[in-house]
Amino acid sequence: MTTCSAPGKVYLFGEHAVVYGEPAVPCAIERRARVTAEPREDGRVRVEAADLSLDGFTVTWGDGTDDHPDIDAPTPLVEAGMGYVNEAVEQARDAADAPEVGFDVTVESDIPLGAGLGSSAAVVAAGIDAGTRSLGVELPPEEIADRAYRAEYEVQDGQASRADTFCSTMGGAVRVEGADCRTIDAPELPLVVGYDGGAGDTGKLVAGVRALRDEYEFAADTVAAIGDVVREGTEVLREADPDGEADPDLLAELGRLMNFDHGLLSALGVSSRSLDAMVWAARDADAHGAKLTGAGGGGCIVALDETGGTETALDYTPGCERSFRAELATEGVRVEEP
Ligand code: PMV
Repeated sequence: MTTCSAPGKVYLFGEHAVVYGEPAVPCAIERRARVTAEPREDGRVRVEAADLSLDGFTVTWGDGTDDHPDIDAPTPLVEAGMGYVNEAVEQARDAADAPEVGFDVTVESDIPLGAGLGSSAAVVAAGIDAGTRSLGVELPPEEIADRAYRAEYEVQDGQASRADTFCSTMGGAVRVEGADCRTIDAPELPLVVGYDGGAGDTGKLVAGVRALRDEYEFAADTVAAIGDVVREGTEVLREADPDGEADPDLLAELGRLMNFDHGLLSALGVSSRSLDAMVWAARDADAHGAKLTGAGGGGCIVALDETGGTETALDYTPGCERSFRAELATEGVRVEEP
């Protein structure tokens, strides 16, 4: 039995545009998904997920492609969650050259599902690492990141960038531009997350942006403008002292760019009333900046605020279910119990 964990993430900049080859900067945060894998000889896969911000549920399915999981809480989110676990299992089997092996899988996560914090990437990265290690195979992080990307790509019908999976696997702040993925230095950032209790449908939201981009040149320009914001943000981060706390001027500049990014994402139709309400609550509380994070449609915003003002304001914002401060997770995927 092996347990591995991987962190969730927020996008400082660049979601959606990253799908079209523009750069993005996600940052891993100290909210983790833990996956335990225990090989079984009958080829079946049994998944237990005690806490995915849903009531507990248990799923068992076989190794035949026609088998449907028997889920005791049939929600689309649970089914989507199972798709990710299934693909992680496939990747682990392939990497360990053990196509017939089954697994008992337990998932525990303190990352809300489908809310823009990279829950699926964390489950997939931790699942591949736990699955392969339980078979005595240790993969280098780059391979885990690549396989996690391929797993997400399968589940999301090709609508996936490498950003979430690379960030969750490597930890820290990363810059992703197409297949060029690298970790970057970042100062300590005072990240605050607001969560509306909901979720967006990543596939639909990505398809919506794609349709706008195909139809209107100005929508394509909007996507390209997000890329410009990210390039500017990367320069700002490069000038910061990576070992210290970010100074107020730097935070002001990053915040201004985050606000700009949110405006462009709103123009592309991926914000929502509750996300906008939380963004404005953060700005009214004098946050340096705020934006939605991830696919949008519902879920989370991220703000920069070293004071307690944004958290308090979010707690009083109708539509905000909870808020929390998010520490940068310097470690990516890791073994919890060998
Ligand atoms: O909401 P999340 O955490 O699945 O992030 C989606 C980010 C997108 O850029 C919209 C899609 C992607 O795969 O990069």
